[in-house]
Amino acid sequence: MLKKIECFIQPLKLDSLKDALIDAGVEGITISEVSGFGRQRGYAQGEKPNRNVKFLPKVKLEIVVDEEILDDVTKTIVKLAATGKFGSGKIFILPVEDAIRIRTKESGISAIT
Ligand SMILES: Nc1ncnc2c1ncn2[C@@H]1O[C@H](COP(=O)(O)OP(=O)(O)OP(=O)(O)O)[C@@H](O)[C@H]1O
Ligand SMILES: [Mg+2]
Repeated sequence: MLKKIECFIQPLKLDSLKDALIDAGVEGITISEVSGFGRQRGYAQGEKPNRNVKFLPKVKLEIVVDEEILDDVTKTIVKLAATGKFGSGKIFILPVEDAIRIRTKESGISAIT
C-alpha cells in the first residue's frame, strides 16, 4: 500500500532531516516553502495570541512511501524536526490510490522504489 506523508517543519531542520529520510529508505521528496500557523496562531511562547494570525515560514515535505517504511519515516521526522518548543511542525498521513512512473509505465509500489 502506498501512503503519502505531508508534513510541515521548521526550515532550519530540513538539511539534517533529508539525509535521515534517505537513510530510512525514502526514494523521493518534494518540498515547498510555505507559510502557516498552528494553534498558537503564529505567536511565540509567552506572547498572547489574538485574532491577528501570524503566518510563519515553514517547509512542506511531500513524500510517498511504501507502507512498510511509513513508521520509520514518521519516527525519523518526529525525532529530527523536534525543537522542544511550540511550532515544531505536524505530520499528516494520507492514502494514495496509485502511482505511475512515466518513463517505464510501472505502477504501484514499483513506481516509487
Ligand atoms: N490543522 C492544520 N492544517 C493544516 N496545516 C496545519 C495544521 N496544523 C498545523 N499546520 C501547519 O503546520 C505548521 C506547524 O504547526 P505547529 O507545529 O505550530 O502545530 P500545533 O498544533 O500548533 O503544535 P504546537 O502546539 O506544538 O505548536 C503550521 O505553521 C501550519 O503550516
Ligand atoms: Mg503551534
